[in-house]
Amino acid sequence: MKVELTVNGAPVAWEIAPGDRLLDSLRAHGCASVKRGCETGDCGCCTILLDGEPAASCVVATAAARGRNVVTLEGLRGDPLLARLQEAFLAEGAVQCGYCTPALLLVAWTLLQSGGPVDEATARHALSGSLCRCTGYVKPLRALLAVAGRPGAQLRGGRGENGLRGRPAAAPRGEERP
Ligand code: FES
Ligand code: FES
Repeated sequence: MKVELTVNGAPVAWEIAPGDRLLDSLRAHGCASVKRGCETGDCGCCTILLDGEPAASCVVATAAARGRNVVTLEGLRGDPLLARLQEAFLAEGAVQCGYCTPALLLVAWTLLQSGGPVDEATARHALSGSLCRCTGYVKPLRALLAVAGRPGAQLRGGRGENGLRGRPAAAPRGEERP
């Protein structure tokens, strides 16, 4: 079957099997920033923007993306806000193995791009859907807050304490988990 959608601003028409997932389709078409992790909608490393909202691409059928607008980190290449976030992540040591980094950058970018107020609570909520085994979560949070104009914010917690994973879960990203 053929499915037509928009990926990173370009219309595409992909030949897919009925059970194909967006995670696999995107990776097969060059979007290597979309990482494969749990494949159950829990870890967040496969996050994309689906019609502007973060979504776990491992639990979205490619067929369900027909006519919709998909953005991956590749689609933000050259974006000044993304560049600022990347610099802040590096400055804060928020990139270690880097496996979670594309998704963290994407959700951080989405929060900042929304233009709404950004404080520690909103930043924690935005990042809380992404598991990271390396940074203890506070470094990405600091990076996001620095770009939001809140550098030096007194953050609570660290690895295994009151870091992001100790917070209530963010709004689910998979369409099957409203
Ligand atoms: S691979 Fe873990 S949420 Fe998709
Ligand atoms: S930097 Fe390694 S999982 Fe986040």
